[in-house]
Amino acid sequence: MNFVAFVNQKGGVGKTTACRTLSSMLAKKGKKVLVIDLDPQQTLSISIGAVNDRFDYETPSIYSVLAEDLPIEQSIFTTGDNYDIIRSDNRLYSYNGEGIFRVDEVLAFADDPIGLHSYMMNKCKRLTDPSTDDKHKLRRQIKRIAEYYDFILCDTNPDLGWVLTTVLMSAPVVNLIVPAFAEDSSREAIIALDRSIKTIMAHDLSQKINILGVLLTKYENNNLSKFYREALIETSEAIGTSLFNTVIPKSVAVPEAMAFKNDLFDGRGGTILNQYQKFCDEFLERIENI
Ligand SMILES: Nc1ncnc2c1ncn2[C@@H]1O[C@H](COP(=O)(O)OP(=O)(O)O)[C@@H](O)[C@H]1O
Ligand SMILES: [Mg+2]
Repeated sequence: MNFVAFVNQKGGVGKTTACRTLSSMLAKKGKKVLVIDLDPQQTLSISIGAVNDRFDYETPSIYSVLAEDLPIEQSIFTTGDNYDIIRSDNRLYSYNGEGIFRVDEVLAFADDPIGLHSYMMNKCKRLTDPSTDDKHKLRRQIKRIAEYYDFILCDTNPDLGWVLTTVLMSAPVVNLIVPAFAEDSSREAIIALDRSIKTIMAHDLSQKINILGVLLTKYENNNLSKFYREALIETSEAIGTSLFNTVIPKSVAVPEAMAFKNDLFDGRGGTILNQYQKFCDEFLERIENI
C-alpha cells in the first residue's frame, strides 16, 4: 500500500481536485484505492456524494474512527469499482485529539484517591506508548486495512495543525503532494510545511516522509506565472523535492465538474484531463522510484 496525502496550508490551491482526480484515475487503471477525507469542510465527500447532509452525525466517518473508536472497516463506503472512501465530518473542526482526562473518568474515583492515582499513572503510560497512544491512532487503524489497497489517498484541510500532524504519522512511509499556485505566497507555504515536517521527524526518527513533488495548479501561461514557476523550482529543491513537470492549467471545467458532482472523466475535461493524466503517469513513476 502506498500512502499519499495532499497538503498545503493554503486553501483553494487544488488539493481536493487533485486528490479526487488522481484517485479516480488510479481506480480506472485497476488500482484498489481508498480515499480518506480528513478535511472538516467535507468538499471531497460532498463532491463524490458520500455526504449529503453536513450535519449527519449518524453515518460513520473518519471522526467516528478517531474520536469514537469505530473500527476503520466500518467507516468505509464503496462508491465504485476499486474506489472506496471514508467520509469527513464537520466535528473535525474542533477535534484536537483525545483529551488526556475526561471529567467523568476523574469523578468515577471521587471517593478513591489512591485508585485515581493508579488510574492516572496507567493512562499516562498508555498515552506515551506508540502501540496505544492517541497520535498514532490513525496509523494503527490504517494498518488493519492496508493490505486491501494499492493506494490510500488523504485529502487534508488548509492548516498545519492536528490533521497534518496526524497524517504525517499515518503510515511508516508517508508521501506528500503539494498543490500550489505559481505565485510568491507559495514559497512561504512550502517552507512552513517543510518546517512542520522536520518537527515531526525530529520527534520520531523512524518516520519516513517524502515530498513527492509540488504540483502547480490553476496555471496561466503568462510571464508572471513562468517567473514564479522558476522561483518555486528553487524553493522545492531547497527542501529536497522538485516540481512535477506537468502543470494543471486554469480551466472552468474544474469548478463545473465540482458543481455538478461529476468527475473530470465525463467528457468535459479536455486539455485539463490530459494534463491530469500526465500528472498521474508522473506520480506513478515517482512513487515507484522512492
Ligand atoms: N485547474 C483549475 N482551474 C480552475 N479552477 C480550479 C482548478 N482546480 C481547482 N479549481 C477550483 O478552485 C477551487 C478550489 O479548489 P480545491 O481543489 O477545492 O482546493 P483546496 O482543496 O486546496 O481548497 C474550487 O472551486 C475548484 O473547483
Ligand atoms: Mg480542499
